[in-house]
Amino acid sequence: MFMEKNIVWHSALTTRAQRQAALRQRGAVLWFTGLSGSGKSTVAARVERALVEGGRAAYLLDGDNVRHGLNKDLGFSPADRDENIRRLAETAALFADAGVIVLVSAISPLRAMRARARACVEKRAPFCEIYVKASVEACAARDPKGLYAKALRGEIQEFTGVSAPYEPPEAPDLTLDTEVMSVEACAEAAFRKAEALSIPSDALLRTAVSASLEAGRAIMAVYSRDFGVSYKADSSPLTEADTAADGIIAQALRRDFPEYALLSEERADDRARLENPFCFIVDPLDGTKEFVKKNGEFTVNIALSYRGKSVMGAVYAPALDELYFAAEGKGAFYCPRASEAEDPVARAERIRVSERRENLILMVSRSHMDEETQSLIAANADRIADTRPSGSSLKGCLIARGAADVYYRTGPTMEWDTAAMQCVVEQAGGVFRQGDGSPMTYNRADSLNKKGFYIINAAQNQLRRPQR
Ligand code: ADX
Repeated sequence: MFMEKNIVWHSALTTRAQRQAALRQRGAVLWFTGLSGSGKSTVAARVERALVEGGRAAYLLDGDNVRHGLNKDLGFSPADRDENIRRLAETAALFADAGVIVLVSAISPLRAMRARARACVEKRAPFCEIYVKASVEACAARDPKGLYAKALRGEIQEFTGVSAPYEPPEAPDLTLDTEVMSVEACAEAAFRKAEALSIPSDALLRTAVSASLEAGRAIMAVYSRDFGVSYKADSSPLTEADTAADGIIAQALRRDFPEYALLSEERADDRARLENPFCFIVDPLDGTKEFVKKNGEFTVNIALSYRGKSVMGAVYAPALDELYFAAEGKGAFYCPRASEAEDPVARAERIRVSERRENLILMVSRSHMDEETQSLIAANADRIADTRPSGSSLKGCLIARGAADVYYRTGPTMEWDTAAMQCVVEQAGGVFRQGDGSPMTYNRADSLNKKGFYIINAAQNQLRRPQR
């Protein structure tokens, strides 16, 4: 390989998070592989259209088309195909780094060349291998370009599937069987992949973290006043702190992500959210009892739900000045003394749940230490070594950073009580389930979490339920 010695790499003045914020998406590469005539370009073109119509920056890099320009010096020998794929991958990686969702459609017949394409892209953006599956017989019967007929007559050499190999992917991220699925169904499945991969997690975390810190400052301004017991009246300090925090958060989220819906404990419910795949779920001040008791264990909670799944969460405890945040595919993070940090997102440390399988530490609610919790402890006395009380969503966060292992909540909660901490727990490697073991979903018509929930550091640490 040639590599010019006298060329240096210039570092840029813009960061990926800034580019994401400007485009409100993250660049990604969806790589469609399959035989000629399998339907790659047809599906990819539909996905491109759906993305662009939805206001996203997307671009189809079609193998055939690129061979008219950038790759017009290449034929179909193994070496030329290798070079074809290398250039496509490098180009896709640049587009994705710029923030574009790139759809690559090329036979890319060999596993090794696709693995190199992935490695090239993944340095900068997520990569999704999509296998567009159709047998040689089906493709030869379709033969839209008449090439199979020619190849079978020997008029085209090294034709993939006829006289040159195609290695199907062993573990594709998505398989679209075009002999079984309709074009619409294939395009819909690929579109959803594109949508999920292009969630701008860096930009989202920056917005959510700075909004939660700012909301925390407003809450602390009220908290540090001596508000006695007047909290029960309508104009209570509690309400004041809630409203101030909610205003700050809503303004920041709407400014940076105006196309996402917003569900907040403190605002009228706009049901249009149910039609939006993206919905912020916010509790500006969770742990009202803790706030009133002045024990510091209250939090600001900001989450993003994507098609029912919590994919981003920020939890900030202003009185403790502790910040937790997480985003799908990025991991979970903890930053103590967050308000002192110039850049808490950069300074935060990665957290993991504990490895404990015995002598478990059970989180218990500071304000709801009820009979049920007592009987849960009694039924699992052999496994629980200790209990640790805490308020609000900090319970999940403490499990996420390994300070405790298990929390069971039988009583009802609301979506905004759990959404942010759920992402933190799951990204830290923990398990978060509804009381009946089913996954918790978000942005539902009814915001009440009716079935309770449990959080555990590992699936095998489920507790025995007490007999009722
Ligand atoms: S790849 O193997 O290098 O990935 P690419 O996707 O760029 O191939 O180009 C494939 C297209 O070129 C096919 O859809 C077909 O229209 C055309 N083509 C021409 N000759 C061949 C050949 N020998 N093998 C496969 N495709 C060919």
